[in-house]
Amino acid sequence: MTSEEIRKRFLSFFKERGHAIIPSASLVPENDPTTLFTGSGMQPLLPYLLGEKHPQGTKLADSQKCFRTQDIEEVGDNRHTTFFEMLGNWSLGDYWKEEQIQWFFEFLTKEVKILPEKLWVTCFDGDETLGLSKDTKSAEIWKKLGIPESRIRFYGAKKNWWSRSGVPENMPAGEPGGPDSEVFYEFTQVAHDPKFGAECHPNCDCGRFLEIGNSVFMQYVKKEDGSFELLPKRNVDFGGGLERIAAASNNNNDIFLVNYNYIIKGIERVTKTKYEDNLQAYRIIADHIKAAAFLIGDGVLPSNTDKGYILRRLIRRGVRYSDILGIDKEFLSTLVDFVIEKYKDVYSNLSERAPIIKNEIKKEEEKFRDTLSKGLAVLNKELKAQIVKRGEAVEAQKISLIQGPGNVQISDYRPPNSMVTGRWLFDFYQTFGFPVEMIIEELKSQGYYFSPKEYKRLANEFKEEFEKHKEVSRAGLEKKFKGGLADTSEKTTMLHTTTHLMLAGLRNFLGEHVHQAGSNITPERTRFDFSHPEKVGRDILDKVEKYVNEAISKKCDVIIEQMPKAEAQKKGVEGSFWERYPDMVNVYMVKCEDGTIYSQELCGGPHVKNTKDIKGVFKIVKEEAVSAGVRRVKAVLE
Ligand code: SER
Repeated sequence: MTSEEIRKRFLSFFKERGHAIIPSASLVPENDPTTLFTGSGMQPLLPYLLGEKHPQGTKLADSQKCFRTQDIEEVGDNRHTTFFEMLGNWSLGDYWKEEQIQWFFEFLTKEVKILPEKLWVTCFDGDETLGLSKDTKSAEIWKKLGIPESRIRFYGAKKNWWSRSGVPENMPAGEPGGPDSEVFYEFTQVAHDPKFGAECHPNCDCGRFLEIGNSVFMQYVKKEDGSFELLPKRNVDFGGGLERIAAASNNNNDIFLVNYNYIIKGIERVTKTKYEDNLQAYRIIADHIKAAAFLIGDGVLPSNTDKGYILRRLIRRGVRYSDILGIDKEFLSTLVDFVIEKYKDVYSNLSERAPIIKNEIKKEEEKFRDTLSKGLAVLNKELKAQIVKRGEAVEAQKISLIQGPGNVQISDYRPPNSMVTGRWLFDFYQTFGFPVEMIIEELKSQGYYFSPKEYKRLANEFKEEFEKHKEVSRAGLEKKFKGGLADTSEKTTMLHTTTHLMLAGLRNFLGEHVHQAGSNITPERTRFDFSHPEKVGRDILDKVEKYVNEAISKKCDVIIEQMPKAEAQKKGVEGSFWERYPDMVNVYMVKCEDGTIYSQELCGGPHVKNTKDIKGVFKIVKEEAVSAGVRRVKAVLE
């Protein structure tokens, strides 16, 4: 079965069982300062898991776009990807273990037609010190469904507990979490690799087992004193990797062959090479180009910090690996067409933003190709010089068995690590545009070995250099934060409502084509990106200021109205990416006593209750270009 078919079947399976189907949220989390990207299905639903009422009810299902930064360097084997779709179903204080486990089992075996004897399951073993009991209930349900005891394993919190911050010890107060029960598919054709331990088991990393679904029984919330209490309502949070389920359904342990064939074929055609001979390069290019397309589709642009840096790293790494395949011309921006074509009907923003996606990848590719070969030549020269200097030549230390990521080649000598300092890495990055992680990857392929401790030290040193440089080159360095609202302090909240008013003002004076393209709000100021083709004159900015200040001085109420999406659209409510929102939406309105509506926008809050709570005079202090068709303003309350 293909991933398209599995996605469709999953959603209709849960629809038939009373679930509302909700659209995927953006990869760029809205108003969530804790994370750079949406990496699981539950993140966008957090308020509802904590008890807020969801406009669509208590049973939901979706397929959520996810991106996991921590997996970038894992890509290259047959199962890791940075971008994936996570099928999800939720019970918000509704059904519990019995229904969840039974439904998922039925879905896998009846809908996807996976043989039950290929499935293993794991359950939570409990943690006495934290007062968390063993999940024998889930195990019983699995047994009733026919999974023999020999294929049910219990693990501790490291494996069978889920929260956004991992194990119970790492959870901050107020964070929800709970035990989970995972399902694994066994590729019996893959022999166990003893390198990973004497005995193979579901959580062994040798590749015989693949996790295909995780039912989290989210019933606890962490307290200030470190103990756990029960949530007012217990939830089920199920997540299953769509591409992995497809791999299991085909009994093929190569996620790429099953799900990325359309890109693989494209690479083969252009490079005249074969996938089988270049597994790592193909997989990296395929994963990174798909992820880059989706990230740009959700508004991320290449830059030197945060999300933009990760995107830049993906594209540049893609260029490096296409160089390995012998490509020295525009390549990635042509591959991206395949991705857009394949997903355009499911994720409409991909086709809407297709020209921007292509153009950004093309620009970034061109920029990096210019310096890639020069950089590699310098790197090799410096490494050789270092070896000669130490008089070690080829006789040097033999380090035959050091394993790099994926299947990088390890040469049999090791140049001294002393050359590699944060400063050196930074200079290299500055001159040639190699993201630091990529330089280290190059060094590893040359036989370097970095212990995790060394790696951390280098990363920190690099960061220091980076910060120093920023301070020198740009006075008044801005505090670094991760996107959306930096926090939920009173000042940030004030500026958030003010930002709504500003957008309404911009649309009022510039036209309806103006939409939000990104925002960053701290207690000090709001930074706001919007679609508009040219510079905005001071006269218009003055009018916008006046509009906002008028709404502030008129002491208008900020009210939330729930309404059907279609009605909101008809009323002219502002919002970008309508397809991400459910059929019932929350509209925040700034409405004055005289009936004037200053702003009406889709949002999840938080906002002030009345504009009289906004302290200060609104001022737009800067207007500049961000990229083609996108402008940025900075504004403050003085
Ligand atoms: N939140 C869980 C996970 O990401 C299940 O959806 O695995």
